Amino acid sequence: MSSSIQKIGVMTSGGDSPGMNAAVRAVVRSCAFHNIICAGIYRGYQGMIEGDYEIMGPRSVNNIINKGGTILMSARSKDFRTEEGRKRAYENLRKENIDALVLIGGDGTFTGGLIFNQEFGFPLIGIPGTIDNDIYGTNYTLGYDTALNTVVEAIDKIRDTASSHSRLFFVEVMGRDAGHIALNAGVGAGAEEILIPEEDLGLERLVESLERSRRNGKTSSIVVVAEGDKIGKNVFELKDYVEEHLPFYDVRVSVLGHIQRGGTPSCFDRVLASRMGVKAVESLLEGKTNYMVGIRDAKMSLTPLEEAVKGRSKINHELLRVSNIVSI
Ligand code: F6P
Repeated sequence: MSSSIQKIGVMTSGGDSPGMNAAVRAVVRSCAFHNIICAGIYRGYQGMIEGDYEIMGPRSVNNIINKGGTILMSARSKDFRTEEGRKRAYENLRKENIDALVLIGGDGTFTGGLIFNQEFGFPLIGIPGTIDNDIYGTNYTLGYDTALNTVVEAIDKIRDTASSHSRLFFVEVMGRDAGHIALNAGVGAGAEEILIPEEDLGLERLVESLERSRRNGKTSSIVVVAEGDKIGKNVFELKDYVEEHLPFYDVRVSVLGHIQRGGTPSCFDRVLASRMGVKAVESLLEGKTNYMVGIRDAKMSLTPLEEAVKGRSKINHELLRVSNIVSI
């Protein structure tokens, strides 16, 4: 590793996700391993603008691998959207002698990083940290696996009461405008129907499917709805619509909300975070910049940030077909 980099800043930004702490830990300890100073930057870009830093050594990140959330906090910074704000951030980084950045966040974080690099030429590497799994260039984003398990566990609990009362439940899950959580957790939880933005199945088809489930002897059903779904009605309107068209159903709604963002990270996310943190630091020390670390076919990969922010993660159509078959 030949590089002039002596001090690396690390930050977490955007919606937090389980595994971010494990990634911070890996970045801090990779720096220590390579005799590089590491500065933790609090509250994402806002902390960068305000000079809210703390030097972090290997002991600073003890016992956080198993903690959800992020010890560096996160924020969405309006100031960083301004040239003045980015200039202040740059001046603060220079004053702190920080030579490069590891940005842990989603596509909004990476877009800000790209603009920052274009304006100041500041070296940076991104680590995809979001439960949505909606970032191009990686099979998994940090926190996605943990969120799936959180959702499946919650739906299993809902299934208990749905079957006890012969009810139909609409369960809304996160994912912003992607259906990965809904599709994968829906299959894992045995949902009868899964509504995702990538596949607008329409209300009529939903009603037909629920009627068929009833005819096939199902006395309770679970419909998982991605929050970004485009069926044209929110989960509460869907409840009203189904009660009107299928009066034999006793319908309830459960919006899982921000519990999907918390919790102790799964082993998968901890291992992924550790691998990504090491890869990010060593990529900077190899002189690389403007890449996002990812995992593709179980191997660490680097995707140009421009592609990561412009690309779209694709829904798994084979899994959609599996879902239709196993929910018969
Ligand atoms: O991007 C992660 C995410 O949890 C999305 O799934 C969700 O739509 C959004 O963040 C919620 O944003 P906030 O935390 O600002 O409510």
